[in-house]
Amino acid sequence: MKIASIGSGHMGAALGKRWAALGHDVMFGSRDPHSERIKLLLEETGSNAQAGTISEAASFGEVILLAVLPDAVEQVLAEAGDLDGKILINCTNRYDGRSADEEVRRLAQNARVVRAFHTLPWEVLANPQYEQGTATAFLSGDDPAAAAVVARLITEIGLDPVDVGGPDRMAKVETAIGTLWGVLAPRFGREYSLSVLRRQEPEADAIR
Ligand SMILES: NC(=O)c1ccc[n+]([C@@H]2O[C@H](COP(=O)([O-])OP(=O)(O)OC[C@H]3O[C@@H](n4cnc5c(N)ncnc54)[C@H](OP(=O)(O)O)[C@@H]3O)[C@@H](O)[C@H]2O)c1
Repeated sequence: MKIASIGSGHMGAALGKRWAALGHDVMFGSRDPHSERIKLLLEETGSNAQAGTISEAASFGEVILLAVLPDAVEQVLAEAGDLDGKILINCTNRYDGRSADEEVRRLAQNARVVRAFHTLPWEVLANPQYEQGTATAFLSGDDPAAAAVVARLITEIGLDPVDVGGPDRMAKVETAIGTLWGVLAPRFGREYSLSVLRRQEPEADAIR
């Protein structure tokens, strides 16, 4: 699958490397695709990766990961332009009381937005293995087919996707995870994870 990452920092690099290693074609979209930093990232990522401008990455990807700092979201989505039904994974977080989910769904032009990977630190995405079980990656979005594609990309990197349904439910999950982070990260560090153990999967129409 052709996957673009707009943003080549901690999140974009961690996920881009994993997907490239699995055989996906990855393009990092950067403000400066010829920089020394990007050259090094391409060397580390291997032959399935290339770099381009933000608009080149937006047209390359069937799936596009949005992995920039919140203050850059508006500008890069304007530069990305019409996303024409492509799947846009929003892993951005805001810490100013505004909703990063609402913002991206409002600004992304014609994208099928799926919220995912935002509940996990980049260190876990780079190395999701735990002896005790499989870490959960929560996702949400209005488009079930797009969510299913992202769930597959989550599974491929060794995480357990739990689709919570629409944005309202994800907002509750984010609040809960933020509260737990405040209690657990000081004890266990950034790389602890949560796992939703379950005896049954919800019916598809019970999610949304
Ligand atoms: N770090 C985590 O563990 C973590 C976990 C969950 C969610 N998140 C969220 O994921 C997003 C990315 O986080 P990150 O840690 O990957 O950030 P980061 O390491 O600072 O990387 C952000 C990237 O955004 C790109 N960018 C594009 N336009 C920009 C602009 N106008 N100003 C600044 N940067 C610009 C930069 O790439 P170029 O220089 O190549 O353009 C930069 O590499 C954030 O919204 C964050 O809240 C992070």
